[in-house]
Amino acid sequence: MSSRPFSKISGVLNGPIAVVGLLAVAALTVPDIAEQTAFDLKVLLVAIWAVYILQLIETLILHEAADGSDRLPALTVDVLSVLVPLIAFLFVGRRDQSLYCAIWLLKPLRNSTFFRLLGRVVSNEARNLIGVTSIFGIVLFGAALAAYLAERDVQPDRFGSIPQAMWWAVVTLSTTGYGDEIPISFAGRVIAGLVMMSGIGIFALWAGILATGFYEEVRRQDFVRNWQLVAAVPLFQRLGSAALVEIVRALRPRVVPAGTIICRKGDSGDQMYFIVEGHVSVATPNPVDLGAGNFFGEMALISGDPRSATVSAVTEVSLLSLYSADFQMLSSSNPDIADIIRKTALERQAAKPKA
Ligand code: CMP
Repeated sequence: MSSRPFSKISGVLNGPIAVVGLLAVAALTVPDIAEQTAFDLKVLLVAIWAVYILQLIETLILHEAADGSDRLPALTVDVLSVLVPLIAFLFVGRRDQSLYCAIWLLKPLRNSTFFRLLGRVVSNEARNLIGVTSIFGIVLFGAALAAYLAERDVQPDRFGSIPQAMWWAVVTLSTTGYGDEIPISFAGRVIAGLVMMSGIGIFALWAGILATGFYEEVRRQDFVRNWQLVAAVPLFQRLGSAALVEIVRALRPRVVPAGTIICRKGDSGDQMYFIVEGHVSVATPNPVDLGAGNFFGEMALISGDPRSATVSAVTEVSLLSLYSADFQMLSSSNPDIADIIRKTALERQAAKPKA
């Protein structure tokens, strides 16, 4: 990690540097910009380009450890960010040279996982999206045809053909309504009203499909991640897959930094914790260190008494927490595991010095 100092800096600065570059590109298109200002802006673009060369070199040389497929989007963006302005400088007239730096629009996206997520959502929902797009096409053509029939005699210059009426149909169906073409016949206005309402419905359908797709994909990712965490806890390794699914849904992952107090002596406790990674310290008279695979916080959960000790994170700790209602569910569906937890709670209770 320490061998990648530039990537840490450029990773954070990718967005701001690209924004500065794009503002310079935009400013250079102003016709009456002062010559000195234009020169300064071009120097700025060259400086940004130099930074991007360094980033490309670093991606090529220092990231060899990274997986090839993970590296591909960043590498593609880095190569384009350097090559496109270079080719423009060599082969394009001076007037448009700086415009090609607009390729830097891609820079802030080079490390983004959003597009991978979007790709999965679109491919999962492809059938539904194609269905709604087909409806859009049908309504669009139908609206253009109807408007052509209703308006061709009264406004032949605007609705004189189906392709001409198509522009009106797109503007109306998308509810944009530029107002450059307006039906004036009664039938034309009725058609316009219907098209507008269909447009709202179609866009709502698209939005709904995508929103559901995103929600399901994020839930799926969470489930897979939680499954891996749960599978790392030895206590759950004896469970069958049906019981594992149940427990994966019930457990909530949480990462706490070193030094955090996870539960405090005397507080009430409505959840217990399983340690996936890291260490915690239980502040009993002889402090106890618990590591991966152990659990704590079960005593208050089972007895309803206040927390018997303060537990704090010695290192960064990855935890899975189980709430009391879910513990009851676990107890009825997996009595073996609940018995182990109860037995441990009794042993710990017995180890407590008598007051
Ligand atoms: P609880 O009382 O809910 O909160 C503090 C937790 O510390 C307690 O549950 C146990 O899980 C844990 N704990 C208490 N005493 C011991 C012990 N002697 N050894 C290991 N863990 C303990």
